[in-house]
Amino acid sequence: MNNPAFHNKKILVTAGPTREPIDPVRYISNHSTGKMGYAIAAELLEQEAEVILVSGPVAVTLQHPKLKMIHVTTASEMYLACCRFFEIADAAIFTAAVADYRPDKIAVQKIKKSDPCFTITMTKNIDIACEFGKIKRRNQVSVGFALETNNEQAHAIGKLTKKNFDMIILNSMNDANATFGFDTNKISIFKADYSCTVYPLKPKKEVAADIVHETGILLAMKDLQEVEEMTRDYESMYQ
Ligand code: CTP
Repeated sequence: MNNPAFHNKKILVTAGPTREPIDPVRYISNHSTGKMGYAIAAELLEQEAEVILVSGPVAVTLQHPKLKMIHVTTASEMYLACCRFFEIADAAIFTAAVADYRPDKIAVQKIKKSDPCFTITMTKNIDIACEFGKIKRRNQVSVGFALETNNEQAHAIGKLTKKNFDMIILNSMNDANATFGFDTNKISIFKADYSCTVYPLKPKKEVAADIVHETGILLAMKDLQEVEEMTRDYESMYQ
């Protein structure tokens, strides 16, 4: 059954890796396949939400009349694409594995292996989720991911606070058959009140359904808060 919390809602989803070019034939990237982000977008579409999917280069595809697909390559392109939709999004789900740094300079020609070694100086990329966290309205929901190798819970909670997420999904690289490339995933969900739910290993489609379900609860709560605030304002005007 469709969740009414998603009716007429616009959800921004980032997915996949970004690629940061070094020269015309090389780049720095990561192992993200985009499967989790695309599974979330597909589940949101099943719930009749409108989805804006900003995706780095991936092999997976998705088509739907209510899907606006934006393909990007670099973190800067992903940020600029997201900026167009922050204002109108009811929720943003940041699943992308954005490269944290990009090479300072992109060589115009292919770099030749003439030197025995060479150094790449890198500049920090903008943190897309963090920027949204700074400007998000009280009725907008922000969901993040944390992929960790150690001190998993502490890192996830740190990101939840720093990026002003309403909810963060923790993936641990220590869990078998979860994370990059697998069709299954094992997650824990931390909410802004620091409550935590640990889920068993499941197919990514079912994990996506769990994440979308929890996002729907947050959206419904924010809608309710808005109605309560409007009612209070209305009552104070006519007292
Ligand atoms: N994120 C983002 N833009 C970035 C970096 C991260 O939107 N430039 C988002 C990711 O999509 C994810 C969350 O922030 O939802 C956490 O990403 P992660 O890479 O785990 O955290 P970082 O802040 O990059 O921290 P670190 O790499 O130091 O663990």
